[in-house]
Amino acid sequence: MKIKFHGHACFTLESDGKKILIDPFLSGNPLAKIKEDQVDVDAILLTHGHGDHLGDALSIAKRTRALIIAPFELAMYCQSKGAEVHPMHIGGSHQFEFGKVKLTPAWHGSAVIEGSSIQYAGNPCGFLITMDEKTVYHAGDTGLFGDMELIGRLNKLDAALLPIGDNFVMGIDDAVEAVKMLNPQLVVPMHYNTFDVIKQDPEIFKEKVSQVGFKCEILGIEEEINI
Ligand code: NI
Ligand code: MN
Repeated sequence: MKIKFHGHACFTLESDGKKILIDPFLSGNPLAKIKEDQVDVDAILLTHGHGDHLGDALSIAKRTRALIIAPFELAMYCQSKGAEVHPMHIGGSHQFEFGKVKLTPAWHGSAVIEGSSIQYAGNPCGFLITMDEKTVYHAGDTGLFGDMELIGRLNKLDAALLPIGDNFVMGIDDAVEAVKMLNPQLVVPMHYNTFDVIKQDPEIFKEKVSQVGFKCEILGIEEEINI
């Protein structure tokens, strides 16, 4: 499986000719290197409704006819805007053509905020994505929680994509605790340096992850790795 980082919490996972995109925040991301009209995918997975995750999902979905997979309330919002959707919720899994998706809890908020209107978007989530026998955990936006131990015990994680930016999500030290519970083959940091308030040095994270016996790979924007 190929994992490509597009900045912030946005990744493409590609396996066996199938491609999925997670949290496509491109046009609003000052660090993004590609435009939303350069993306072609089979499905778009959304962890929650905040602008830095919903991002360009609707325009990409309309242009490419990609299916949007999201927690129920957020999926209904996207459907009301003309997208084709598959609603799910925390704890549920579903086998798609590209692979299997299971929604995990995430301790965060979720709403679509446009000017003074705030639309409830259900609970935020993380994703366990299995394509071609490889399983990747994308934690979404979340604080540290003890049930990550359960996620690590019940799933053999080939990679864990974890936020380290602090302020809105886990900071470096909490993310290292998450790694210990998740027990993944590989850790990739995300959700840092996009804005000043989430500025972090990923090299410090990498060092701390290796000190507790795990492998960490820092991906530059538009960089990819094979797992
Ligand atoms: Ni958020
Ligand atoms: Mn966020």
